[in-house]
This record gives sequence, C-alpha cells and structure tokens, in this order.
Amino acid sequence: MARDKSVYFCNECGGDSPKWQGQCPHCGAWNTLVEGRAAESRGKRYAPLAGQPDAGRVVRLSSIETRQAPRVGSGLDELDRVLGGGFVEGGVVLLGGDPGIGKSTLLLQSLAAMGATRPVLYVTGEESPAQVALRAERLGLLNAPVDVLAEIRLDAVATAIDRAKPQVVVVDSIQTVYSDALQSAPGSVTQVRECAAQLTLLPKDRGVAFVLVGHVTKEGAIAGPRVLEHIVDTVLYFEGETHSSFRVIRATKNRFGAVNELGVFAMTDRGLRGVSNPSALFVSGAGDPAPGSCVLATLEGSRPLLVEIQALVAPGVGAVPRRLSVGLDPQRLAMLLAALQRHCGVATGGDDVFVSAVGGVRITEPAADLAAVLAILSSLKNRALPRTLAVFGEVGLTGEIRPVQRGQERLKEAAKMGYRRALIPKLNKPKQSIDGMDIIYVSRLSEALAAAFD
Ligand code: TYD
Ligand code: MG
Repeated sequence: MARDKSVYFCNECGGDSPKWQGQCPHCGAWNTLVEGRAAESRGKRYAPLAGQPDAGRVVRLSSIETRQAPRVGSGLDELDRVLGGGFVEGGVVLLGGDPGIGKSTLLLQSLAAMGATRPVLYVTGEESPAQVALRAERLGLLNAPVDVLAEIRLDAVATAIDRAKPQVVVVDSIQTVYSDALQSAPGSVTQVRECAAQLTLLPKDRGVAFVLVGHVTKEGAIAGPRVLEHIVDTVLYFEGETHSSFRVIRATKNRFGAVNELGVFAMTDRGLRGVSNPSALFVSGAGDPAPGSCVLATLEGSRPLLVEIQALVAPGVGAVPRRLSVGLDPQRLAMLLAALQRHCGVATGGDDVFVSAVGGVRITEPAADLAAVLAILSSLKNRALPRTLAVFGEVGLTGEIRPVQRGQERLKEAAKMGYRRALIPKLNKPKQSIDGMDIIYVSRLSEALAAAFD
C-alpha cells in the first residue's frame, strides 16, 4: 500500500498545497499552512458498484415524503426569531462570535430553559465545570436541569451522547474538540473539519439538535475552514461592540428559516435579556435635537428598526482628509460625498467626514444613504433636523432617490415610535396613508436637501 503523502492545509480557507509555504496560495493568508494527510482516494478511478442493487438508486422528487422537522423552542424569543422558530431536531447550528461577546452565556441560558422539558447536555472544552457553575450561579440558574460534560475527546463526547441521550447538545467550542484518530494538533483545520463532520452525523440519525460554538478570526469569519459553514444547517453570528451592552445575533445561513433575521439582546449583570423593542435602543433619545443626526428607518431581516445615523464634518487636519464610517459601508460614504458634490454643489473636499450608526448596529442596506447624507449636511450646516423626522431611501449615482423595499413597514414602525414626519422616496408612497404622519416624497437628492433644511 502506498504511504499517505503529507499535504498542507490552510487554517483559514481549508485549501491544500503539496508543500509548506509561508503564504497560502488559495487565500493569500500568511502562516496558516499546517500538515495533514492527503485523501487516499486521490487519483483512483471509480467503477459502478456491481451486486449492490441499493447503491446509487435514484428516486423521483415527487415521491419523497416531506416532513416538517419538529422545532425545539430555545427559551429565548429573540433567539427563536433568528432560528426561524427554535432549534430543529436533527439540525446543526454553528454560533460564531468574538471572545467574551456572550456565546457561552446565551447557550447556557437557552439550555437551562430547554432543560425543563427535555434532557440537554452542555459540553465544555474551554472552561472547567466549576467555571460553568460559576456562570450559572451568576445567572441564577444553578439549579437548572442541565447536564455538563467537561471533555475535548471526540469519542468521549459521542459516548456521553449515547449514554445520556440528550435532545439538545451544545459543544463549546468546536475548536477544542479533537479526535485521536488524527495526527494533527487540536484546533488545526484537519481536526476541526473531521470533528465537526463526525459530530454532525450524530444528530441526523438521532434527532438531536446540535449547537457548535465556533471561534472567529481577526477578520471576523468563523475560524477553521470555510467547510464548517457548509456542513452545518444554520450559521449564526453574535456581534456587538464590547463597550456597549447591546448584542445582535444574525443568521448568515439558515436551511430552516430566513437569513438576515435579527435578534437583539442586552447584556446585563444577570445574563442576556431579549430586547423586543430595539428601536428605542438605537436612537440616542432625549434632549434637544443636535446637528449631525438623522433617524433612519431601516429593515433588519423582516424587522423594521429605527437607527440614529450621526455625522461629523470638521476641517481636515491631515494632508489627506479622513473619511471614516462605523456601522455603515465606507465605500458608500465616498460615493455619497461625491454625489453631494456633483448634484447639490456641496463640497467636503478638504474636510474630515465621520459617520456612524448609534448603538453598535451594522447597516448594510443602501436605504441608509439618504439618512447619512442628511446627517452629513446637518453637521456641515450646523443645523439640526426636526426631532420627529424619520428618513429612508437609496441615493443613486445620478442624484436620484431610489425606492427601497417594504417602505410601508418602515413608516409604520416610525409612526409607532412617535415620529410624525418622514422623508422618503416618491416611489415608496404607501397605498394607505399612515395615521398622524406627514410624509414628504422626493425623487432627487437636491429636492430632499431642500425639503429637509428649508
Ligand atoms: P461569555 O458568555 O463567557 O462569552 P463567550 O463565550 O462568547 O466568550 O461572556 C463573557 C462576558 O459577558 C464577560 O465579559 C462577562 C459578561 N457577563 C455579563 O456581563 N453578565 C453576565 O451575567 C454574565 C454571565 C457574563
Ligand atoms: Mg465561551
């Protein structure tokens, strides 16, 4: 038998190369290649299987029985919202997030709630049982019916699942689990890939709901090979600024529900608390309206949300003016400033421009354009916009204001939160008028500026 040849796998992207190199030839990351085994099947030619009538049997799509997989409510409404109604029996969820963001806290709280009705298991590879108990004590959950296993060997984890027959299993974290069958070190790409693959086989035949906690890299992707994201059913990211107590959880992949749903939590001294009315969080609140602030009616998943966009325009201090955006797309900021100059004659050439979304939310939709422009102009003119004004709309390169999806819902949320005026794209005109709301429709950027400031 030929000896297995060594191959080097990239810890970031999972790509392989025949020899060690400083830089991964696939993703360009430095110092990420680690030794692994080449698959034995390389170069083998496949032949049809003879004498096995069941192998390779095809079925007609219409003849496959479908069944809605039963859901297990997570015990936390905001988490259920992101999952699409709870964990799915036989499904695997990957939860990623920066260290200290609250992954272990969230899952312990959820397990404690689920433990009341079914056996649940918390596998901890990072912390000792005593540390887990300390956290539980802090959360007031010391008596919760949760089984704890401090273990990092894959076989032992599988054995425990066999014995205890839990219906929900949390593995915190997948990077600590390792298999004796592999030579490479725990946490290496080969280990993570193999252990995750083995673990995800368990739930499929036993109807266990699985949650794997994953570390994230400096760049914010889940550490280990991308392949992790492929083999699980749902990928959740837990995000938030460490200096603020708000935490946002979103799905980037969900075989059992919608992606881009958003769950909002606040980290308190007694654990995470779901925030059912997040609009109140992301608007800076009381006091006289200040120049440089504009309230955006945005949409996160299916959920309308009001977020305050703040801007500061100040004379540039360096040789090159600074353009900085926090929570908004920096490329878009450059584009908006160019549109302002070209179509409205507002030049910010030598100024430093800073834009940020209050409360640590991240807004990716172009519907934030108009709010960002108005905030910038408000700072530039040193004139505050009315406190009760809410805004949305995309700004096009030719200076037009483009419609955005689900305008009606955004307007309703704004009205619910006490906003009395709205500045929105003409094509977003709602079919029914919104009670108590005075709406201005605009189709050009220049019109929008005139309406807001004159
Ligand atoms: P943790 O769940 O350990 O984070 P992760 O598993 O993502 O690394 O959360 C740790 C942080 O949360 C830590 O800085 C302390 C804080 N925390 C609270 O503020 N309140 C609490 O009730 C708990 C349990 C933790
Ligand atoms: Mg943790």
